[in-house]
Amino acid sequence: MRHLLAALPLLALGCSHSLTTATRDTGDDAADPDVDTDTDGDTDADTDSDSDTDTDTGPAPTFERVQNPYVGARFYVSDEYAAKIEVSKAKAPSSLHAAMDTVAAQPTAVWLDRIAAIAGSDEVMGLRDHLDAAVVQQRAHPDEPLLVTFVVYDLPDRDCAARASNGELKLEADGMRRYKEEYIDVIADVLASDEAYGALRVVLVVEPDSLPNLVTNLDSHAACRVAEPAYKEGIAYAVSQLSTVDNAYIYLDIAHSGWLGWDHQEKAAALYRGVLEDAGGASLVSGFATNVSNYSTLDERFDPYGDINGNMDLIVGFYEWNRMIDERTFVDRMRTFFPDHGFVIDTGRSGWPTRSDGPMDLRTHRGNWCNVSDAGIGERPQPAPAPGVHAYVWIKPPGESDGIADPSATDPNDEGKRFDPMCGGADVTREKGQPVPTDALPGAPHAGHWFHEQFVMLVDNANPPL
Ligand code: GLC
Repeated sequence: MRHLLAALPLLALGCSHSLTTATRDTGDDAADPDVDTDTDGDTDADTDSDSDTDTDTGPAPTFERVQNPYVGARFYVSDEYAAKIEVSKAKAPSSLHAAMDTVAAQPTAVWLDRIAAIAGSDEVMGLRDHLDAAVVQQRAHPDEPLLVTFVVYDLPDRDCAARASNGELKLEADGMRRYKEEYIDVIADVLASDEAYGALRVVLVVEPDSLPNLVTNLDSHAACRVAEPAYKEGIAYAVSQLSTVDNAYIYLDIAHSGWLGWDHQEKAAALYRGVLEDAGGASLVSGFATNVSNYSTLDERFDPYGDINGNMDLIVGFYEWNRMIDERTFVDRMRTFFPDHGFVIDTGRSGWPTRSDGPMDLRTHRGNWCNVSDAGIGERPQPAPAPGVHAYVWIKPPGESDGIADPSATDPNDEGKRFDPMCGGADVTREKGQPVPTDALPGAPHAGHWFHEQFVMLVDNANPPL
């Protein structure tokens, strides 16, 4: 294991940023404010050597709060993600190698999907490891702020309307206290524990699917009714605590066009406003994240409602009268409720083939969400691509599974993941009673685990091409 950051403490002395980092009780972390902590997880000792030398030059950047953190920033690229791609590359046709290299150089979010993910392990980088690596990337380009993204994802009774991403914390087993004390507080403490971290732009995407489940799934899912007060309390707590970190930019997950696209927007806006009020105010968050881990099209070229009679089958079947046919339309609608906030759109898997004679989205049903076949990587991460859109981002790292495909998978796993029928090969019965294919690829591992075959498909189908 190499200590990449040996040069950094010296540089930190010259650091003059505007943050107060010493006010928190950072527990054990405070004992070692030095960034030269054990930087493990560096499995591929390749690209770092130039960064090491670069860290010897220039003063540490100053943090300055801006409205859209993506503008003018470089984005953190995870060596850990690149290492997964290396493994796939070794097994993939050489015609895809260059494209895979392009993917490996893109920024992806780091999911803190359980308490142990914060500390990491000998095999997996933790929060501090990623922050340290981000600081190295920052110092290599001292003139540009470095933006790094984490997903905060460990609510008690998580994923109340599905099973694939059920989590480790249970309300009935002290889950709310543990969420606050062992998870949110610890993340906030680590972020504030080191001056060098304070110069980064830290984006936090908070709790995918949770509030949207409270908008649409209370009637259909008893588990969501049980979880409702906890999700509200947990997210309000997360926002209130994480927003004390001066350089954190918080985005609340707000589902996607195929979920909150019908007449749910007002109800959703009211719910989000209420939770933000409980947290201390809507201005504590930068905005909202859409399409996280989903496959909705960014910008459909086909307008089904332009000829309602001619497209009736599609409108009734595929769109189910949902007027929000893509993410851009959905974001434009949600912006009317939150004009002072920005949106980020996960485009990691929205790269459907461009066409205008039918929906680009090739799913059998827009509700399909698990390891969808024929999907491709979408728009590259980029800042300010459209009005009100802070960025296109890759929050779900392309190639990581949405859920296990094997219905007999009952293996106990410490992550709490389970088989969900939406990830299996059998048709599922949806609201209207008719069986619908899931579109799920066979052979998928548990959610979050690397799924080689899916990765190859996503790269191959990328649009725009890689
Ligand atoms: C999923 C998983 C989570 C994983 C994430 C990113 O929703 O539940 O464990 O980290 O996706 O792949």
